[in-house]
Amino acid sequence: MAALVLFGGGGDLALRMLLPSLYYLEHDGLLPDDLKIIGAARSEESREDYVARVRQSVESKAKADDAWSDAAWSKLEARLDYLAVDATSAESLKPLKDKVGPGTCTSFLAVSPSLYARIVTAMRAAGLAEADDRVVLEKPVGRDLETFREIDDAVADAFSELQVFRIDHYLGKETVQNLIALRFGNTIFEPLWNNLSIDHVQITVGETVGVGDRWPYYDEYGALRDMLQNHMLQLLCLVAMEPPSDLEPDSVRNEKVKVLRSLRPITHDEAERVTVRGQYVAGTSEGQPVKGYDEERGLDSDTETFVAIRADIDNWRWAGVPFFMRTGKRLPEKRTEIVIQFKALPHSIFDNDRGQVTANRLVIELQPEEDISLSVMNKKPGLDQRMQLQPIQMSLSWGQNDKSAKPPRRRIAYERLLLDALAGDSTLFVRRDEAEQAWKWVDQVSEAWEGAAFKPRDYVAGTWGPPEADLLLDRTGRRWNTGND
Ligand code: BG6
Repeated sequence: MAALVLFGGGGDLALRMLLPSLYYLEHDGLLPDDLKIIGAARSEESREDYVARVRQSVESKAKADDAWSDAAWSKLEARLDYLAVDATSAESLKPLKDKVGPGTCTSFLAVSPSLYARIVTAMRAAGLAEADDRVVLEKPVGRDLETFREIDDAVADAFSELQVFRIDHYLGKETVQNLIALRFGNTIFEPLWNNLSIDHVQITVGETVGVGDRWPYYDEYGALRDMLQNHMLQLLCLVAMEPPSDLEPDSVRNEKVKVLRSLRPITHDEAERVTVRGQYVAGTSEGQPVKGYDEERGLDSDTETFVAIRADIDNWRWAGVPFFMRTGKRLPEKRTEIVIQFKALPHSIFDNDRGQVTANRLVIELQPEEDISLSVMNKKPGLDQRMQLQPIQMSLSWGQNDKSAKPPRRRIAYERLLLDALAGDSTLFVRRDEAEQAWKWVDQVSEAWEGAAFKPRDYVAGTWGPPEADLLLDRTGRRWNTGND
């Protein structure tokens, strides 16, 4: 027998992401036959009521995806159970241990990270941290290196590192894994994947949503800690890492840590030149007038809702190749992409038509579409005396080979990650030293930001951040990808 315990099983993450993911895994026949799933949360609720709530959430999502099946639901329902617990008390966790029974128990902590340390301590005392058990931790673990270590030390007292699965849901996204396939499953990119051929890299994670109900959480973290410390640095690592010797968890994570260690520290003096902080003020989002960040809560705050940073990786492969990252709330589009901008031609033989040759660009789009495209120059058809060139986009995505096939359903990133955690495969999870290195780098940015000079600059909701974000690239003769070049 095996058990999956969802602490915070009635909360937003569990109902919106985890349980729908489990439904889809069930639907596709991927869950182990003997797996039981136990929701554990504070509220006194009967199993029937809990199951009804889960069904409501799963059904509406699955129907919207045209993937509802009564048979799959019945199988999932049969696995589900619920128990009201105080997860910080060993005494209260004992009945949960009885429900779990013998076999491997994977506990997913979908609760406030401020409770992690107390919960794992109670789990250990209640026998839920045996040698075969596992714990899955949602981000954010801590808000700087020190608090990360405090929590993680408590986790390490209860579980060995091999039993700890730190989630970064970006690593579960299909295109992110495809990046590994693209880089290491082909011979044509790797010889070009360095400072001889690449001019710079851009990573953009744009969101149209505001902070809204998440204000109390978000105000303590801001865009730097909420997005850049984890999702964006993980993307940077996958672009920049050396080829691992194989796809074993530690092989991949060793390479990622090396990248994080090579990030050039950003000093206080440098911060003005290479970082931009912004906060949205009232504007328009998706055609609707929206409030500014401060007005959403009626409080004055210096938390950034936008960050742009130039990162430099001091190693042989990437010396001289800037990595520009930007992310923010209330931007004009929900767009997540990695742009690999290749260098311009060393010499153009087409220079009687200046500017018509644009440098190659590989765009790895994660959202809204999952797509990888390469821009290459092509001759414009025709009998012009002087050869005319135009860029064309070659899509390297699924579906290009078989246009009649229905594209696969876009999976929730947690499906992959839950499946891997249940199988004990930690390749797509963040190791302790990785998280520590990421915090170290981010901490010196947040320390550099202390002081009046680094108060966030205003940007109007519905724009791509403050003007300084464009200047960050302009100063180096580059531009953010607009998608229309
Ligand atoms: C979360 C952040 O980790 O990622 C949120 O806490 C953010 O602020 C979300 O909105 C974005 O995830 P995705 O998958 O929609 O890009």
